Amino acid sequence: MLSNALNPDGTVEQAWATYTEEDHAVWRTLFERQTRLLPALACDAFVRGMKQLPMAADRIPDFEQLSDVLEQQTGWHIVAVQGLLPDAIFFEHLANRRFPAGRFIRQKKQLDYLQEPDVFHDVFGHVPMLMHPAMADFIQLYGQAGLIAQRIGKLAELARVYWYTVEFGLVRERGQTLIYGAGIASSAAESKFSVNSPSPNRIAFDLERVMRTRYRIDDFQESYFVLDSIDDLLALAEIDFAPYYARMDDGTRFQPGEFRDQDRVLHYGNASYHTSV
Ligand SMILES: [Fe+2]
Repeated sequence: MLSNALNPDGTVEQAWATYTEEDHAVWRTLFERQTRLLPALACDAFVRGMKQLPMAADRIPDFEQLSDVLEQQTGWHIVAVQGLLPDAIFFEHLANRRFPAGRFIRQKKQLDYLQEPDVFHDVFGHVPMLMHPAMADFIQLYGQAGLIAQRIGKLAELARVYWYTVEFGLVRERGQTLIYGAGIASSAAESKFSVNSPSPNRIAFDLERVMRTRYRIDDFQESYFVLDSIDDLLALAEIDFAPYYARMDDGTRFQPGEFRDQDRVLHYGNASYHTSV
């Protein structure tokens, strides 16, 4: 029987033995699809992390086994959760290098539709990059910053940083623009769209600009922000957000597809996708 007993920190048992053959089959379909696509579309750190972790097509990974490898590499640990956690509890986990991962997996008939993050998004999408020291430090800082932002009412501004990096980030590498964000890496359609489609804008990452930019939660992004290098996350992991929040008080915000005069634009999207849906 699956135990849903909730620990005080919002975690549950992964209860690996309770996954059904159909659960594992869904994992296999998603895993095989993404491992075919990503070596050409994702950055080196993602592909390397994917190969170093004990993840394979045949079974949903065991969080303890993943954590053993991850902990040695960057000191992170994966904890199982049943659904979305309250913000404060989520941030507290991140600040302590514990990554909350949904234990359930989406259903076969909803392979590309996901209301809340499941084990494929959280583990396949996020954990490879947590093997990289820059991402490991940055997400911990994000947890610490989240606890502060919540107290001072700046969560919307901070959440945009996570969205446009950890979830939907792209990076320049070997003369190409490649994926490192988990929201992209766990979606076959958005993996291709974000890198290859002429539709979205691809704009050089600028922290203040990102903090002012709204995002879409219901569809592909209209704009992606591109780091010059994954190591830029190291500088971000040391950022003091306070002066940025102070500047946000002028109220200037950008819509997802909007440009700003100072943008360093790598690709002007033709918006063909979003004008056709
Ligand atoms: Fe995520």
